[in-house]
Order: sequence, then C-alpha cells, then structure tokens
Amino acid sequence: MLFTKKSVTQLQSDAQGESSGLHRTLGALNLTSLGVGAIIGAGIFSITGVAAAQYAGPGLVISFIISAIACGFAGLCYAEFASMLPIAGSAYTYSYATVGELFAWIIGWDLIIEYLFAASTVAVAWSGYVISFLEKNLGLVIPDTFRSAPLAFSPETGFTATTSLVNLPAVLIILLITILLVKGIRESASFNNVIVVVKLIVIVLFIVFGFQYVNTANWTPFIPENTGEFGEFGWSGIFRAAGVIFFAYIGFDAVSTAAQEAKNPQRDMPIGILASLAVCTVLYILVSLVLTGIVPYTMLNVPDPIAVAVDAARLPDGSLALGWLSPLVKIGAIAGLSSVILVMLMGQPRIFFTMSRDGLLPPVFSKVHPTFKTPIVSTLITGGVAMVIAGLFPINVLSELVSIGTLLAFILVCAAVLVLRRTHPDLERPFRTPLVPFVPIAGIIICLMQMLPLPLPTWERLGAWLALGLLIYFFYGVKHSTVNAGRSWKPLGSVRLIVGVGSIAFLGYVIWAHFLK
Ligand code: ALA
Repeated sequence: MLFTKKSVTQLQSDAQGESSGLHRTLGALNLTSLGVGAIIGAGIFSITGVAAAQYAGPGLVISFIISAIACGFAGLCYAEFASMLPIAGSAYTYSYATVGELFAWIIGWDLIIEYLFAASTVAVAWSGYVISFLEKNLGLVIPDTFRSAPLAFSPETGFTATTSLVNLPAVLIILLITILLVKGIRESASFNNVIVVVKLIVIVLFIVFGFQYVNTANWTPFIPENTGEFGEFGWSGIFRAAGVIFFAYIGFDAVSTAAQEAKNPQRDMPIGILASLAVCTVLYILVSLVLTGIVPYTMLNVPDPIAVAVDAARLPDGSLALGWLSPLVKIGAIAGLSSVILVMLMGQPRIFFTMSRDGLLPPVFSKVHPTFKTPIVSTLITGGVAMVIAGLFPINVLSELVSIGTLLAFILVCAAVLVLRRTHPDLERPFRTPLVPFVPIAGIIICLMQMLPLPLPTWERLGAWLALGLLIYFFYGVKHSTVNAGRSWKPLGSVRLIVGVGSIAFLGYVIWAHFLK
C-alpha cells in the first residue's frame, strides 16, 4: 500500500485534460523570467552577509560555486521530469509516479518547508530592508517591540526571548499578499517581468559601481582559518556556507509548477529552468566578490548586507561614494523580495490542492472559492501559518530549515530520475538528463555534502517536521488515499503503532531540547 504508484500514462492524460482550461501562453523567455523572479531574493539580499561573517569569509564565492553545481545537477533532473510530465505538483507528482505514495507524501510534506517556510523567511528579510529604508532614508523609527523576532536561537541555550514582541512588518507583508492571492490577483507574466528587470538592474548597478570600491586587502585571507569549530571558516565553513546560501538558488524549480501554462513545455521547461539558474549563478558569484571586497567580512553579520556595503563605499574625503545607490538598492530589494513571497505563497496552495485531490489531505484543502476561483482555504491556511512563523522566528533558523528541506527534495528528485529510467526506460523523454547515472548521483552527493555540515538543531527540526508528516500520513492519509481506495489499512496496524510512538517521542524530544531546556 505504501508503495502504490500513480501510473505515468494516467498522469500524462490528466495533464492533457486539465490543460485544456489553462492558457498556454508562456514561452522560454517568460519562463526564464519567472525563474529569475522566484530565485533572486532573500538569499542574495540578506543571507549572504551572515554566511560570509560567520562561516566562509570571502571564500563565500566558492560556496556559491559549489551550490550552483548542486543546483545545476538537480536542475537537469527537474528538467527531465518537467518536460516528460508537464503537470502541476512538481516533485510531489514525480515521486508519486516513481517511488510510490509514502515517498510522494514525504516529498510533498517536505515541499511545505520549501514554499511556506521560504515565504516566511523572505518576509523576515523584507522586514529588514523596509525598516532600514524607513529609518535611514525617511527618518521613521519602528519601535523595538515590533521590529524583529521575539525568539532568538543559540545551540547552547535553545530558543530564548528577545525584547521584541513580534516582527510586525513581516506579518503585514504576508497578510497583504495573502489577501491579493485570495482575490485571485495572479502574478501576470508582464508584472513579473517588470519586477525582474528592477531586480536585475539593481544587482548589476551594485556589481558595476561597487567594483570600483573594492579593497583587495579585504580578500586576504580568502579562506579564513578554521576556528577549531567544525563549519566555522576553513573548508568545512565553505561547505556550511554553501548549505546556507543554497537558499539563494531556490526557486528555479518553481518554473516546473508552470508546466501547464507553457506553450511548448517539452522544449521550454528545460530552457526556463536551466537558463534562470545560469543567469543567477553568474550574478551571485560577482555580487559575493564585490560584497566581500568592499567591506571586511566580519562586518557583514547584518540583515541588509548589500545596503551596508553600499554605505561603506567611501570617497577619499570619507564621504559616501554611492549615496545615490543606497535607496535604489533598498527599493529594488523590497520589490524583489515581495515577488518571491508571492510566488512561494502561490505555489504552496497548489501543492496542498493536489495532495488533497489525492486524498492525502482533507477535502477542504481543494475547495475553490465560487467567485474568486482560487483555492481559498489552502491559501488562507498557508498565509496564516506563514504569518505566525514570520512573526516569531529569526531569519537564520528559518533559512537553514528551508535549505535543508529543499536539499532533501532535490536529492529525492535526482533519485527519482534514476528509478524511472529503470522502471520506465521506454517513456518518451523530450529532455533527457545528460550523463545518467553520473549527473543524478553527483547531484545527490553534492546536495548531501551541503546538508551534512548544517548545524544539528537544523537537522533535528527537519526530523521533527518529517515526524509530524508521518503521523498525519499514517493516521489520516492511508485511510483516505484515493489511489488506494477500497483497500483496508488494517494490515498496517503494527507499522502505525511504531511510527506513532516513534514520531511522538521524537517530536517531544525536539520541543523539549529547543524550547524548554
Ligand atoms: N531564492 C529565493 C530567495 O533567495 C528563495 O529569496
């Protein structure tokens, strides 16, 4: 039962049927732009700073290259699936067809980390830039109580309270975007294109003008010596930073969720996925060089590192060299981050929707509003949960969880390509991942190498999340699965007992260790 698969031919004919209602309007350029719109966000505008300051120093550039290779391999695997099964549901659907229901559930549950938690993470980064813009450029001060997370985390003490009550701007932006999504305002391709152009201009301006203020002394030592702690500088730090800034690349897979709206998915899906990844890789490498060249990496432990770097560029008389660029960077970041939040909050309900249609989540998740024609309940649930998370937690805790969860999803997609090549060798594959099995296997290994150095508490949170997912699957999904309809779940009795007790015990441990200890 746990390994029942959806047949690939069934999925393909579903796609044909469903696609008749959707307009196939997106070409290769639009899809690439969609990818870039979802990719460039909190990763480059915020998280790079902490990764350089705490883990990698200027070696951050190498972290970006490592992470790009992992994403490139995973991207090639996504491209094969997206061209072969151009249907909604992304990795969840791919694994339902290849490895079976339990794995599909795990991957779908894991994708919640990628989409919902990423929306919260980006909202926290958005809040950082908005506060900085209001204060430094407009002179409006946000009270301490409402400007940051009320919880801070350190591995020694677990979560502790800060002086803040809630990160209010982060909550408000999610509220706003959720309302837009409920009303059915969808990010049209042209609106997205405008935001993408704004983001790209800001980043290119930063690279071109920032480059002139690079002090090469800041690049020495390029790889600061390890502090004696695993993951703090040295090569282990570079890999840890790669796992952390991996966040910056997340989003190219969102292209695959638009498969049903692509004019020529067989050709354009692979182009959209791989070209958006390539553009961002080049930009990220240049940004990280300029960033660590303008300011000593130790000063980058801030939520708005690019803005800090721009302010650090000085003329010989000590005055601001790039004063004009500072507000532009912030406005570009604020607009750019909003579009990432929008894409993530739009993708999540689609996945809930598909899982609910399959019976693995309650039917209410696939309820569509009669006039707005949007999946209203799942949109509201997504927004509500994302708001609470964004209001309470600090960005490093969130972004590391998103990175580890997405790395896991990529590993499963790479593995699924291998499995499907064996089980369905004759299926038509308009795009074939090159050099199989090398590419998927190398993808799996490099993703694992980025997961392993992430801190233990991040692993524990991933484990807790998966334990919660298993509980829901074994006590709800198995009984309601439409693919397994008519089959009794009774034979699973002892497995359910073991999973139930094990999951609850692990969840209890993590809650105790992180919040109560
Ligand atoms: N890659 C996206 C970002 O950095 C998720 O915001």
